[in-house]
Amino acid sequence: MEKPAICGGAPVRTTPLSYGRQFIDAQDIRAVTDTLKSDYLTCGPRITQLEETLCAVTGAKYCVAVSNGTAALHIAALAVGIGPGDEVITTPITFAASANCALYCGAKPVFADINPETYNIDPASIRACITPRTKAVVAVDFTGQAVELDEIRAICREHHLTLIEDAAHSIGTRYNGRPIGSLADMTTFSFHPVKTVTAGEGGAVTTNSRELYDKLVLLHAHGITRDRSRMVHPTDDPWYNEQAGYGYNYRLTEIQAALLISQLSKLELFSARRKEIVARYDDAFSQIPQLQVQREIPQSDTTRHLYILRLRSEMLSCTRREFFDALGAEGIHSQVHYMPVYWHSYYESLGYERGLCPEAERYYREVMSLPLYYSLTDQDVDDVIHIVKKLIAYYTK
Ligand SMILES: Cc1ncc(COP(=O)(O)O)c(C=O)c1O
Repeated sequence: MEKPAICGGAPVRTTPLSYGRQFIDAQDIRAVTDTLKSDYLTCGPRITQLEETLCAVTGAKYCVAVSNGTAALHIAALAVGIGPGDEVITTPITFAASANCALYCGAKPVFADINPETYNIDPASIRACITPRTKAVVAVDFTGQAVELDEIRAICREHHLTLIEDAAHSIGTRYNGRPIGSLADMTTFSFHPVKTVTAGEGGAVTTNSRELYDKLVLLHAHGITRDRSRMVHPTDDPWYNEQAGYGYNYRLTEIQAALLISQLSKLELFSARRKEIVARYDDAFSQIPQLQVQREIPQSDTTRHLYILRLRSEMLSCTRREFFDALGAEGIHSQVHYMPVYWHSYYESLGYERGLCPEAERYYREVMSLPLYYSLTDQDVDDVIHIVKKLIAYYTK
């Protein structure tokens, strides 16, 4: 049997691969440099163009571009009116921001368990978490796969809860043929560089509700308006603006907007390549009993942001850490998405205890993310598959 590099064998890869990477071309660079030479670096026409583009991509009526996905979640939670005494249900298998947005508002994040096959929040567990204090659900399209929106929307309707869809991973995904972004009360996006399209840093909230949109506009820019109809003391003074509400400076710059508009023009290309890579991995790994392949719900036509390799640990003689290190020694720099949010020491200090979501905790012990990004070549993908197969053969009990 071929030895893995960590045990003295020769590594397959001479150039390492990371789990995610942006793709920037000459068009993106031109978009940024043109903007730098233009009259506006912030609050200009590119933000409007970006918001219109995101509406077209998502099918939403309204969009507010913001500085990052965390800011998007924060203003979405504020727009709902979440505050002290409220509870917000979310998944533990996510980036901390999905839960932190409740903390920012003085509310309590409540963690529902995941489905052990799709890794998304389990609608039955959402139901079990609802109390009279529940105000909203933050449902995360983890890895890019849409959550079970029909079921979750029905639960939210029944209990008068607002649904915020955290689509940081899922731009380009469709649910029952409709693009993510117009299917929840509000949908939040992140455009961090490992995501399918990037602004360097960036985010957005989309919604079909005029009322929520008006709140989001104020919240993302100091609560200040130039719209007379929204002023308490409107005047004719041309300089006059009024802080009519509560707000932050969560604006995106024109430079970021220009980059993102250019990236969005390649979304279909990016999405198609990601689907090809996922299909190659799935084909190879579904034949290996020591691995569990993420189950796709039929409603989701997924643009995958992350590819999760899940070990069936009972069939292997190694720990996840040993497998992770062995991948690294072969030049595959993996990452783990994610440790359950409530395992973070800060959440521990708030009183959250281990054992809360058994499926999420089991998931966390068995997973790592494989390289998945537009510019991976077929040879790169074949190398990853070869290395995974080699390690599985080596570590099989
Ligand atoms: C699921 C999820 N939600 C929210 C965020 C926050 O986005 P940002 O990093 O743009 O603030 C991320 C970022 O990685 C994420 O993965």
